[in-house]
Amino acid sequence: MKFSTIGTSWITETFIAAAHRTGKATLTSVYSRSAEKARAFAEKNGAKSWYTDMNAMLEEETDYIYIASPNSIHVAHVLNCLAYKKHIFCEKPMVYTKQQLDEIKTQAKKQGVFIFEGYRHLFSPNYKTLKNTLPKLGQVRSVLLQYIQYSSRYDAYKEGSVPNVFSKEFAGGALMDLGVYPLSMAIDLFGKPTNVDYFPVFLSNGIDGSGTLMVTYEDFNVTIMCSKIAQGMIPSEIHGENGTLTMDHLAPIQSLKLYDLTSKETRELAQSQYDLDMVYEIEAFVKMVETNDSVYHDWLLERSGHVADELEKARKSQGILFPGDSNLA
Ligand SMILES: NC(=O)c1ccc[n+]([C@@H]2O[C@H](COP(=O)([O-])OP(=O)(O)OC[C@H]3O[C@@H](n4cnc5c(N)ncnc54)[C@H](OP(=O)(O)O)[C@@H]3O)[C@@H](O)[C@H]2O)c1
Repeated sequence: MKFSTIGTSWITETFIAAAHRTGKATLTSVYSRSAEKARAFAEKNGAKSWYTDMNAMLEEETDYIYIASPNSIHVAHVLNCLAYKKHIFCEKPMVYTKQQLDEIKTQAKKQGVFIFEGYRHLFSPNYKTLKNTLPKLGQVRSVLLQYIQYSSRYDAYKEGSVPNVFSKEFAGGALMDLGVYPLSMAIDLFGKPTNVDYFPVFLSNGIDGSGTLMVTYEDFNVTIMCSKIAQGMIPSEIHGENGTLTMDHLAPIQSLKLYDLTSKETRELAQSQYDLDMVYEIEAFVKMVETNDSVYHDWLLERSGHVADELEKARKSQGILFPGDSNLA
């Protein structure tokens, strides 16, 4: 499939490398706001053409567009690409309100194309093993998921600038950037929660540098810790009445251990997988488009809708408002 890109940071380069690794992708063109950047990015990544006019790029014959712009600009970019009947692969979090997602869904249906949110951690073989092993734990009683990663951009913030990922204008913050990984995992594993409560640690500009999200289910709670201003060293765990699953990291999982409460034994379940874990989500996306799998598409979007809903409730309850927001969740 032929694809074009929006955004010229390292994540777009990683996506291009992963897409080429699938053997089912050809980069056609790239877009940047700057001609100099667009030309250099196209040359470096082997694109045939580059554009500073997004609509001109969208006139080209391409199958899908990869979008990795700052969070608050995703919706405008997605809607623009949909107007040209392109399939969309958009980085997480695709939206910051449920209403935005509903608008995108309606447009995609109208245009007869698919949209896909890039939750790379939910497509890897080791994540699938985790999901398949979950029943062995029996009744789940508690879950601790952490994504605590010191951001190199925090140094810039401390020196007085405001990188997009630390700004409300661009829908940044720890919950939107990192908390979305464990939250989407919890929703993928256990479904829509009964409640969420967010306890943020605010930086001076009112963005959450870190926070704890309590996600409540009927018989257990999921405690999510996310941070961009400190480095976590502990694993994540799912505790059941029959055993425990331990993950070294959520995105990607490289070690997955099952502790059996009866035998008192621990087994490693993880297998070696691509370092470039975006390969797996791209394969899932391409298969969905090639087989015209609208059932899978609708299921993915339902999951995205639950994530958007809970993120929106969590941040608004703490007054974390983004462009165009009202504080009513
Ligand atoms: N899946 C993952 O593992 C992963 C990892 C990192 C990031 N992400 C996601 O990828 C997206 C981009 O993140 P990032 O950290 O790369 O963001 P970023 O550096 O702030 O911006 C990404 C690109 O958007 C364009 N851009 C920057 N500021 C803009 C503005 N004010 N208006 C319009 N375009 C602007 C820039 O391209 P030009 O200057 O060339 O136009 C830039 O290369 C986010 O949604 C993030 O959550 C995902």
